[in-house]
Amino acid sequence: MDEKIFNLDLQQLKDIVLDFRKKLENGLEKDNTEIACLPTFIQPKKGKVNGKSVVLDLGGTNYRVATVDINENGAVIHPENGWKKDLSVMKSPGFSEDDLFKEMADPIYETKRDGEMPIGYCFSYPAESLKDGDAKLLRWTKGVNINEMVDKPVGKPLLDYLNKGTEPKFSNIKIINDTVASLFAGLTKPGYDTYIGLIVGTGTNLAAMMRPDKIKKLKPSDEVDMNALIPINLESGNFFPPHLINIDNIVDEHSDKKGAQRFEKAVSGMYLGEILKASFPLNKFEDKFDAQKLTSMMSYPDVYKEEYVRVARQIYHRSAALVAASLAGLISVLHDHDNSIRKIMLTAEGSLFWSSDKNGPDYKELVTEKLATLLKELGLGDIQVDVNQMPNANLIGTAIAALS
Ligand code: GLC
Repeated sequence: MDEKIFNLDLQQLKDIVLDFRKKLENGLEKDNTEIACLPTFIQPKKGKVNGKSVVLDLGGTNYRVATVDINENGAVIHPENGWKKDLSVMKSPGFSEDDLFKEMADPIYETKRDGEMPIGYCFSYPAESLKDGDAKLLRWTKGVNINEMVDKPVGKPLLDYLNKGTEPKFSNIKIINDTVASLFAGLTKPGYDTYIGLIVGTGTNLAAMMRPDKIKKLKPSDEVDMNALIPINLESGNFFPPHLINIDNIVDEHSDKKGAQRFEKAVSGMYLGEILKASFPLNKFEDKFDAQKLTSMMSYPDVYKEEYVRVARQIYHRSAALVAASLAGLISVLHDHDNSIRKIMLTAEGSLFWSSDKNGPDYKELVTEKLATLLKELGLGDIQVDVNQMPNANLIGTAIAALS
């Protein structure tokens, strides 16, 4: 097959940037749009936050629990990278809310707590932030479908469930998206004009701080402080970019939630293997073929068909180019909102974003190079974007939310 079909030339990428921009602006104006732009009604406390919390991180495949102690010297996480459990079982048919709470509760009960503590819950699915710090689940993504949880608060039922079975009780629960958690973790590094959170792992998504006067859909009843920036979870995985190809349609056809998350299905770890499989419809592949498998093909090409390796690399490169285009779209909107923006801190999490190709440029390099080219094309070449890799950014950002 001709792997060039995955190539996106500069003009095509510019089309994608402009389309992203337009849909992002639409999301700031109205509800229920393709790029949802969900405001988060948790603002990180000004000055230093201090205190202990229990942090839960429910992503796509893994679940993590940790106690996080934030003090003058930084964050102490126990155990070091959180206690990790594979929760891919939550994707199986018939898996219920009660099953989920049970799975989640066991390791939480194991945490050592010397008094009442709040919970920070990094919940990596589209959810509408509520004024009390909880959030209402809008829909599931990434192959999960626990229907009875949709349209209901995510935090309160879990808090009640946990408090029935433990002492000391938990005092409170705050829900934030993983992109917002990354962004919050980045805020601990001062000296930037603005901050962005990016995830490229099982799924993909972006968050940014926005001026409330630019978020036209905010209502007086939201009671936001008009002088403070609002964290926005873009839910950019649902963007439907131009210039996807027929193979993308086939992947969508065979995936969960047909028609939704089209950007995510072309970019993120959960789907890259599916794109490769769909590129060779007559050949046989293993069932579990994720992005890790794809990158190992590129790094250890000798044991694979040469054709597979070439196509795998093109799929990887296109994913990075698409992420760069979405970032360029977001940055151009942020710059429109505030022309003085010059230095941006981008805190990125996700195994695909930090993956490497032993025989070519790494993913992060591919993104930053393409982003620089696109920003220059947009007349924004003087904007500097620093990519920040912060160990346990999600846990730290969520702890900040729990204590804010
Ligand atoms: C999916 C979710 C989104 C999350 C992203 C990365 O796109 O809908 O909420 O941020 O995955 O985990």
